[in-house]
Amino acid sequence: MWFVSLSSRILRSYSHVLGRRGCNTAAFMPEAAGFEGVSSRSSLQDFSVSNSDTFWSAVARHRLSWISPFTAVQDCDLSQGRIKWFDGGKLNVSINCLDRHVHTSPERVALIWEKDEPGSEVKITYRSLLEMTCRLGNLLRRHGVKKGDCVTIYMPACPLAVASMLACARIGAAHNVVFAGFSAEALSERIRDAQSTVVITVNQGVRGGRVIELKKTVDTAVQSCPTVKQVFVAMRTENPVIMTDRDVPMEEYVFSYNDGDIFGCVADIGWITGHSYAVYGPLANGGTTVLFESTPIYPDPGRYWEMVQRLKINQFYGAPTAIRLLLKYGNHWVQKYDRSTLKTLGTVGEPINTEAWQWYYSVVGDKRCPVVDTWWQTETGGICIAPRPSQPDAEIVPGMAMRPFFGIKPVLMDSEGKVATSNNTSGALCIAQPWPGMARTIHNDHQRFTATYCQPYPGYFFTGDGAYRSEEGYYQITGRLDDVINVSGHRIGTAEIEDVVNQCPAVAESAFAQRLPKTRSGKIMRRVLRKVVECETDTLGDLSTLDDPTVVEEIIQGHSELK
Ligand code: PRX
Repeated sequence: MWFVSLSSRILRSYSHVLGRRGCNTAAFMPEAAGFEGVSSRSSLQDFSVSNSDTFWSAVARHRLSWISPFTAVQDCDLSQGRIKWFDGGKLNVSINCLDRHVHTSPERVALIWEKDEPGSEVKITYRSLLEMTCRLGNLLRRHGVKKGDCVTIYMPACPLAVASMLACARIGAAHNVVFAGFSAEALSERIRDAQSTVVITVNQGVRGGRVIELKKTVDTAVQSCPTVKQVFVAMRTENPVIMTDRDVPMEEYVFSYNDGDIFGCVADIGWITGHSYAVYGPLANGGTTVLFESTPIYPDPGRYWEMVQRLKINQFYGAPTAIRLLLKYGNHWVQKYDRSTLKTLGTVGEPINTEAWQWYYSVVGDKRCPVVDTWWQTETGGICIAPRPSQPDAEIVPGMAMRPFFGIKPVLMDSEGKVATSNNTSGALCIAQPWPGMARTIHNDHQRFTATYCQPYPGYFFTGDGAYRSEEGYYQITGRLDDVINVSGHRIGTAEIEDVVNQCPAVAESAFAQRLPKTRSGKIMRRVLRKVVECETDTLGDLSTLDDPTVVEEIIQGHSELK
């Protein structure tokens, strides 16, 4: 069947060449060069029928990669119903569909996924399709699927469905693709027929603008399929579904971490990012994690990327401040290293400005790795808002954390303490319901915990951050609402800073003012500060060059409060 369609495709695709240029067989079918007497499309047709073995042998050898070559082209006898082609030969269809092309044109688009919503197509290259396929193949193998087994695939048309099919082919399993419009009964019948131990599905399908509960259908179907041990569930939409012990999620959700990946979170373990994403998260998932002891510029500003190359890091998770720092040293520190293993680039800790985001995306990630700007905090335990919790292909807006993670319900409070219901609005970021990873108390000070996080907006967890929700419903963190500054993603209160400043012998006392007295050209008028500290506010001198003279009043006020 496959060969019939292949041959007709060859003929069709080269016919225009013949039509225009006549009889150069090598130009329209290289392997036909050895076919005696073939100089036109019609003569090729005659040849292929009368010299069938020669024709098919040449096509098969030329167009396919064989693990072991065939010893006989065919041994067929239609009168006896004996059909044998390419006897003794061994090939893997997944290698033929993917690996061959990845060797020559890895970035060529293999799939254009025309999604339900017009205009939201997604392009998948041969390289990513191969990656997806290999990962799925390994996953299936690890869950006991072996050569000769039959895996049932109940998925809508999506890249993961293709990868699932190819993954089965890769490990020698058969696949039983069931149309995702079939009922639970029809599905169950087909699963029983195939004796599948594994079913692959998605949480929900989307068709004609309607959401279809595919996972629920599978749940019902497998009730009468005793062979099924595992149901793999990929996320086609953002809506979580009930997962049972039998169900296995198919992605890690923010970083697209997959088994065998090297996860490179460069945060120190003394901070929450190091806790959750260098230690507990990766280890709990059986992952391989990088413990980074050094700095981004030691021994030189190429350190991160040299490490990526050497350790073959797949996910890189760092802070915007380091990215901004490295950006200044220039692209060559990045480009001299091979970063082709990188799949996802993450940032955390503070808002990432557009320039840094673009550099990270374009230079570090070669415009091929999604940048996930993840928002969370020590108190939340793990990522709460990130661009791609559920859909590996979802749109990413630079500098925006965007979408809530599973189980997280963010809300914005307006100035009256009410939940803002509209989009395109800003407010205090709260989380409307609890989740397992959240802080439960402050050690030895539960009252402070409730006062800080629970009482400001009763019934909600108050994060202390301000956020903007865009017209599309995406979240962007605007910064701390409290008296805390954020340095390199580490929140530091003014008290801690004053503490350090006051350790300097030349400093008697310190406070932080909201604003400094600056001239219109941006210079700080230090004599004003000195006069305030020396309590000589009646001899401040000429203030006419100040950009905003009211700043002086603020500073005098702050200083008198300090006293
Ligand atoms: O203000 C937010 C900022 O960092 C704060 C949390 O700091 P910490 O508990 O030290 O944890 C840092 C690592 C999770 C938040 O309240 N923050 C964190 N991520 C982002 C962010 N600000 C903007 N965008 C982010 N992606």
